[in-house]
Amino acid sequence: MTDPVPYLDLKAQLQPIRAELDAAITRTLDNCSFCLGPDVAQFEKDFARFIGAEHCVAFNSGTSALHVALLLLNVGPGDEVVTTPFTFVATSWAISYVGAKPVYVDVDDATMNLDPKRLEQAITPRTKAVLPVHLYGQPFDLDPILEICRKHKLPLVEDTAQSHAAKYKGKIVGTFGEISCFSFYPGKNLGACGEGGALLTNNAELAKRARSLREHGSTVRYYHDEVGFNYRMEGIQGAVLGVKLPHLQGWTNERRRVAHRYHGLLQDTPLQLPREAAYAESAYHLYVVRHPRRDQLKSHLEAQGVGCALHYPLPLHLQKCYADLGHKPGDFPVAEKAARECLSLPIYPELTDAQIQRVAKVVREFFA
Ligand SMILES: Cc1ncc(COP(=O)(O)O)c(C=O)c1O
Repeated sequence: MTDPVPYLDLKAQLQPIRAELDAAITRTLDNCSFCLGPDVAQFEKDFARFIGAEHCVAFNSGTSALHVALLLLNVGPGDEVVTTPFTFVATSWAISYVGAKPVYVDVDDATMNLDPKRLEQAITPRTKAVLPVHLYGQPFDLDPILEICRKHKLPLVEDTAQSHAAKYKGKIVGTFGEISCFSFYPGKNLGACGEGGALLTNNAELAKRARSLREHGSTVRYYHDEVGFNYRMEGIQGAVLGVKLPHLQGWTNERRRVAHRYHGLLQDTPLQLPREAAYAESAYHLYVVRHPRRDQLKSHLEAQGVGCALHYPLPLHLQKCYADLGHKPGDFPVAEKAARECLSLPIYPELTDAQIQRVAKVVREFFA
């Protein structure tokens, strides 16, 4: 067998910047600035500028940022938040953590993002926020969703965990809604060497309260204004992210190169390939193809040494943890079909042309 193609290769990303990372981590050790600290503060400024937001508050994970986002909007027990059933579960966790109910809206078959045409019918007098996801790096259709949010006076929270540097009609996502929440989990387009996340907003009051909630509900040490959390970003993660941020745009360009190359090599196969919407510039966090014989294709790729993954095999409305919502198969057929057919191929900035060609060859052999 020729060289395997790993699904993800974080070593390949670290190698060219290893000396810089070592120096930044050593600096943090020398300073002993382990929780928040100067590197985190600098990263917050730099990331806010990159996204074009007024305020960035760094968190210990994207999940924590989402939780705090809903607290900032005063969402609580008895409230509903409209969201997508086809995402990583953390989107829904935030809603559950504040005691509210996730109300799912089926996705659009072409983008697998929340379908704006179905949004309005899910809004009730209990709805307090709308929380869609820019899935796989592709922005959801912001204009129609924002219009519905304005009409019903509902805040929009963007789950930007998978979409660093993605663009909607030429503008980077993360400031279209009242709040956006990023993840810096290691495999993300901008990843820490551990857990990390951020909450971005143009609202100074919300940012101030977010800083307090992330630090035990406190702005003055040992004085606690409300029940808060230990959701601080570690100093070392701020230092690592500070080294990586200047590479983000270049890495995004490389992801787009890989996606376009796959597209050229796979477009005459029976696969449904990811389609970039006319309004979107995807950050291609994932390259997800679709086929009814997905499981056999996955086994074939793995047998040939090509890594692949499923995002996501079971939509949230059918997860055991959400059984009490009372959903059944067929409630969100587009998401359910996507879950049966989706297969994520390797995509990362360092993927070589030879590796891309090998993945495409193995895929084509399956259909031969
Ligand atoms: C869409 C989405 N939302 C939220 C999260 C949660 O982020 P984290 O893993 O940093 O808590 C993730 C990633 O893990 C994600 O992909």
